[in-house]
Amino acid sequence: MKKDLLKISDLTRHEIDEIFERSRILKGNHKRGMPYKPLIGKTLGLIFEKASTRTRVSFEAAMYQLGGNTIFISSRDSQMGRGEPIKDTARVLSRYLDAVVIRTFGHDIVDEFARYSEIPVINGLTDLHHPCQVLTDMFTIIEKKGDYKGLKIAWIGDGNNMANSWIEAASILGFNLFLACPKGYEPDKKILEHAQKEAKSEIKVLKDPKDAADGADVLNTDVWASMGQEDEREKRLKDFKGYQINKDVLKLAKKDAIVMHCLPAHRGEEITDEVMEGSQSVVFDQAENRLHVQKAVLEILLINPIEK
Ligand code: CP
Ligand code: NVA
Repeated sequence: MKKDLLKISDLTRHEIDEIFERSRILKGNHKRGMPYKPLIGKTLGLIFEKASTRTRVSFEAAMYQLGGNTIFISSRDSQMGRGEPIKDTARVLSRYLDAVVIRTFGHDIVDEFARYSEIPVINGLTDLHHPCQVLTDMFTIIEKKGDYKGLKIAWIGDGNNMANSWIEAASILGFNLFLACPKGYEPDKKILEHAQKEAKSEIKVLKDPKDAADGADVLNTDVWASMGQEDEREKRLKDFKGYQINKDVLKLAKKDAIVMHCLPAHRGEEITDEVMEGSQSVVFDQAENRLHVQKAVLEILLINPIEK
């Protein structure tokens, strides 16, 4: 049966650990210049309704490096933009492609697409989840810290799609996650409550960024206005005042703490230029790792499903 990756909780802990292990091996082999082309003859479709640099380019490069091809489909230029039903598009594209990445607004769109699709569907970001980014971020943490067990990870800023995926990851993998979000910008209630119920670790939503940063191993943030929220930008700039990762916040974390951001960043808003360019920042390693982790995801979804 085909498997989709629409949210982190579509994966078991065993599957996530296997993705990390394969990412490590694939990254090493790529750095040593060893060709590996298990996806010859396979085609990945990329349906994007929002802008992207990392997700699009890393998936395209991943497919080419693995021997496959990609077709980029902007919904605006396809019949989807003229209202062809998702359930029809999903069934038609299943006849041409071997897997599809979708970046869109409502999460219900990828859910519906996956229900009708006969090929694996990968969420390349919705308003509710960004699983490929958080898998990558966890892999980056393992590279930098050796393991995620027992870590305190802080999320400072918006309770957005990234925060929701972090919450699911904390619940499944068992690290401690402290989120500091302004009132009215907390993560999705249903995702949070379910994760807290299932988790053996601490997942807490706080108000004060200092409490989240205190003794943290990882400081993490994202833009204050996500794609689709451009009209709220001015209000959000005011509401998120005090939720910036800057040198004072960084001082509260452990001495060897790392700073993460999925990018693109708005320097001077959610993070200062100084911290982003500082020695504790790992943002460009994170960006690179999208390539390696997504290769592992493609390998697992397209050719090598993990034994339970
Ligand atoms: N982090 C991330 O998903 O970046 P893009 O929007 O450039 O794909
Ligand atoms: N939360 C951001 C992430 C961008 C990669 C957004 O949805 O725009």
